[in-house]
Amino acid sequence: MLDNHTKIAQWVEQFRPYAKEGNCASYIPALAEKNPNQLAIAVIGPDGSEMRAGDTTERFTLQSVSKIVTFILACMDKGLPYVLERVDVEPTGDTFNSIVRLESHQPGKPFNPMINAGAITVSSMLSGDSPQEKIDNLLRFLEKMIGKKVSVNEEVFQSEWHTANRNRALAYYLMASGYLDCPVEEALEVYLKQCAIEIDVSDMAMIGLIIANDGYHPLLKTQLFPKQVAKLTKALMVTCGMYNASGKFAAFIGLPAKSGVSGAILAAVPSHAGLESPFPTGCGIGIYGPAIDTIGNSVAGVHLLKYIATEWNMNIF
Ligand code: DON
Repeated sequence: MLDNHTKIAQWVEQFRPYAKEGNCASYIPALAEKNPNQLAIAVIGPDGSEMRAGDTTERFTLQSVSKIVTFILACMDKGLPYVLERVDVEPTGDTFNSIVRLESHQPGKPFNPMINAGAITVSSMLSGDSPQEKIDNLLRFLEKMIGKKVSVNEEVFQSEWHTANRNRALAYYLMASGYLDCPVEEALEVYLKQCAIEIDVSDMAMIGLIIANDGYHPLLKTQLFPKQVAKLTKALMVTCGMYNASGKFAAFIGLPAKSGVSGAILAAVPSHAGLESPFPTGCGIGIYGPAIDTIGNSVAGVHLLKYIATEWNMNIF
C-alpha cells in the first residue's frame, strides 16, 4: 500500500492537467505572466506534521484569501458588533467584484466580507492612522500566525493599483453610503496591498490550521484570536468563501475554504473521527494552481481538494 506522502504527490500529478481548463487572471497584469501549469499543496496537522507535494517552493499573492485574515483582525481591533454593523454575513450569488447590490439594497451595506465591497470596508476599519500602519499591523498578525516574515509584492500591488477601476467604483459607493472608515484612496491602498502579500502553500496551511482550531495556535499553544471570531469566519468561508461557486463547493466538497484569483485556496479542516484521514484531529490545507475558472477559483486546485476531501473523509457535513 502507498504511503500518504506518495499518494498526495500522485494526486497532484493526476490533477495538474486540469489547469488547461482555466487561465491565469488576466485583469491583473502581473498575475497573467504566471505559469498556469503549476500545482502545489501543503497539509499541516495540529502536531506540526506536514505533507507537501508539487511546486511547493512557488510564492504567490494571497489575493482574496487575505479577506479572511483582515476580517479576523478587524474583529479583534474593533470588536464584533462594530464590524457587523458595517458589513453583513449574507452570500450574494454575484461575482466577487459586483457593484449591483450596493445600489439596489439600501442603505448600501456590503453583503459580506468575502466579496470585494465588504473586504474594502473591512480594510478601512483596521487599526492604524495611515495605510502603511494598517498594513504593518496586518503583516505582524500574519507573521505571528505563520512564524516568519511576510511582505507585499510591490509589482503585483502596482499592477493592480493602476487597473483597479471596479474596486475604485466600489470604494466610492461605499464612501457615499458611509461604509468606509478612511478616505477612498487609503482604503484601496490597504485592500490592494493586503491582496499582494506574498506567501507559499505551507503558510496558507498554517493559517487554515489555526482557523480550524478556533483561533488556537497548536504549536505556539496560544489563543491568537477569539473562538467566536473563528467560528464566524468558518461560516463565512462555507457560505461565501468560493464566491458564487460557494453553494456547489459546500454541496460537493464540504469544507470551509477561501480562494483568491492568484489560484490560492485555503481550507480549514476540523477534527474528524474518520480513520481514512492521516489527519483525524483536523488540519489546514494550502493549495496553489494559478489557472482559474471564470468565477475566480483554481481549476486544478478545486479538483485536487475535492479528491482529497473525499479520499480522507473530510466533508464537515
Ligand atoms: O480586488 C481584486 O480584484 C483582487 N485583488 C482580488 C480578488 C480575488 O482574489 C477574487 N478571487 N477570486
